[in-house]
Amino acid sequence: MAHRVRLGRSELQVSPICYGSWQLSPRCWGPVPTEQVAAAMRRAFEVGVNFYDTADAYGDGLSESVMGEALADLPRDQIVVATKVYHHFYEDGHRHPDLSGKYILEECDCSLRRLKMDYIDLYQLHAFDPLTPIEETTEVLEKLKQAGKIRCYGVSNFTVEQLRLARRCGDYATLQPRYNLLQRDIEDDLLPYCQAEDIGVLVYSSLAMGLLSGKYDGTESFDDHRAKVPMFQGERFKKITAAVKGLGPIAEKYSLTIPQLVLAATLAHPAVHCAIVGIKTPQQIEDAAGAMGKSIEREDYFAIRNALSL
Ligand SMILES: NC(=O)c1ccc[n+]([C@@H]2O[C@H](COP(=O)([O-])OP(=O)(O)OC[C@H]3O[C@@H](n4cnc5c(N)ncnc54)[C@H](OP(=O)(O)O)[C@@H]3O)[C@@H](O)[C@H]2O)c1
Repeated sequence: MAHRVRLGRSELQVSPICYGSWQLSPRCWGPVPTEQVAAAMRRAFEVGVNFYDTADAYGDGLSESVMGEALADLPRDQIVVATKVYHHFYEDGHRHPDLSGKYILEECDCSLRRLKMDYIDLYQLHAFDPLTPIEETTEVLEKLKQAGKIRCYGVSNFTVEQLRLARRCGDYATLQPRYNLLQRDIEDDLLPYCQAEDIGVLVYSSLAMGLLSGKYDGTESFDDHRAKVPMFQGERFKKITAAVKGLGPIAEKYSLTIPQLVLAATLAHPAVHCAIVGIKTPQQIEDAAGAMGKSIEREDYFAIRNALSL
């Protein structure tokens, strides 16, 4: 039986594991074979994942283009595609924030073209643009909805006050924040707000950019964007990797892999509808999909949180 949840106040029925495709940004993740990623996208559907997250800016259009090709033969009404707008990017590589009405109208069409689709299920503002009045942005999102180009819209990386402001102008149905068992700060404000307002929450970096996968031993060095992320450096990296490996016996108790255990525990929070997992290979999405429908006993859930309170 397919695992599906209603994404908050939206009408979208999605798998609790969402396929994340930022990994198709060579400037952040280095070269990734696009064929392998396309195969992973198709494998996702076979293993019960129907929800895909991308952004216009991932690889300056590359991620959307690869996704469009990879999903072209799947039944459109059985997949849910979320993309984002915010970074106005140019051929020479420079970019700046832009949620002006004019840019969103143009860029939505570009996303549709790259995705080879006639509508986007969930259109997200990638971050807050301090320069554009949210009224202007919302008006255009409503126009796109009425034109049938998007089914619903949401935000990412907004604070609770920014989200409250946006929701005074329109029906922002979802939030995409960073959240994982090591970085739980949004439990204090954003998650309770979303719960109270029935906002769909799809969290990103649910494996802390791979750190919660249990595959590192603290000696690795990275030549992608993780080279600059403090949790992947020195003593902190060693401490976290040891704690993650220490989750092995709990994972074994449930016959889960460590990524599955971590994802199941992340999804246990009642405000979290979906965990987006950044994927490079078919094996990674097969593994992540195995977290769907798995529950963790209270005692173990808190043992995992305690182990990762570093
Ligand atoms: N809205 C935003 O601002 C924003 C920001 C970040 C991400 N996102 C979205 O959220 C998605 C996920 O976030 P993320 O990429 O930051 O991090 P993530 O999902 O926490 O980690 C991704 C990394 O985890 C590893 N991985 C994934 N599945 C695995 C498995 N089954 N076993 C072992 N390792 C596994 C891979 O590492 P290796 O590279 O070592 O193979 C992969 O690159 C992105 O793809 C994107 O769609 C959104």
